[in-house]
Amino acid sequence: MNGENLKHKPVLLEEVLSVIKPKAGEVYFDTTFGWGGYTAKILDSCACKVIAIDQDPSTKKQANEFKKKYGERFEFIQSKFSQISNVLQKLDIKKVDGFMFDIGVSSMQLDNPERGFSFNKDGPLDMRMSSDGLTAAEFIKSIDESELADILYNYGDERKSRRIARYICQSRSESNIDTTLQLASIVEKANPKKHNHKKHSATKTFQAIRIFINDELRELFNGLSAAEESLNVNGKICVVTFHSTEDKIVKNYFNKSSGSDPSNYKNLPTSKNESSHSLIPFKKAIKPTDNEISENIRSRSAKLRWAKKTDAKPNKFTLDDIGFKELN
Ligand SMILES: C[S@@+](CC[C@H](N)C(=O)[O-])C[C@H]1O[C@@H](n2cnc3c(N)ncnc32)[C@H](O)[C@@H]1O
Repeated sequence: MNGENLKHKPVLLEEVLSVIKPKAGEVYFDTTFGWGGYTAKILDSCACKVIAIDQDPSTKKQANEFKKKYGERFEFIQSKFSQISNVLQKLDIKKVDGFMFDIGVSSMQLDNPERGFSFNKDGPLDMRMSSDGLTAAEFIKSIDESELADILYNYGDERKSRRIARYICQSRSESNIDTTLQLASIVEKANPKKHNHKKHSATKTFQAIRIFINDELRELFNGLSAAEESLNVNGKICVVTFHSTEDKIVKNYFNKSSGSDPSNYKNLPTSKNESSHSLIPFKKAIKPTDNEISENIRSRSAKLRWAKKTDAKPNKFTLDDIGFKELN
């Protein structure tokens, strides 16, 4: 459960802990349990409680081990960000002192070819974090070419989105695209890797499809909103993201909840109206040290943003209000 057996190396762990500053008797919520790296660190630091969720059914086995070790100080429910309020209701917990979101895929998901997340290992084109919904193969089979291009552009920042979408749709008319390596090689043909370019040419395409089929952006937004609703005054929301689209959602969400929405300067906080804003964000994103990056290359693109809850009621707003058009 710890040390050398860790299957997923938690990213920015010390930094998250130094923001949360766990205290005995308090309740924390790990929204992305995974292999339990954040949860273990918090539970080992003092006599507090952690509620954890993960939408991936394969995390239940590790959660059972945690239950044996930590007893009543730990609760796990297989669930999603959008269900956080229901989870708290079910456990009869009114308020939480800190939320942690460690967005994206775990090493267990990425490294298991059967899950279909990796363009380096052959496996079924699945990419679902939970076990329900459309697989990536089913999505590719049915999506319209121009919608696919929009998804690649908006969710993967893929500049060659139209060309890649055209190649994918041409290929699927010849034969089904059922495996990860099939998709990776089609994208490589559409977008050959430039000399000395470190990233695989299918990186952005895989990212975009994964984000879309798991509805990750809406989930993140709903998760932030549920967390803000149930935070105690002075409680913290910590979010670790791995690419710019997610980071922008977090940054814009925190800005909007703190009143410093750049698109609406009338809402800028002043000494008079500051107390009417529900969150105070720490303005700068925290990044991993060179040391962490050298020990764990997957941490290289991570960013931690956090915000503190005030005593004001959260304002209601939508993804659209923070500059994100929903594509589905
Ligand atoms: C990067 S891993 C978390 C690793 C964890 N912090 C650890 O130390 O092991 C992300 C996890 O979040 C889960 N996840 C992603 N989106 C989710 C969502 N909307 N609701 C619940 N779990 C989610 C994934 O299934 C995955 O297990």
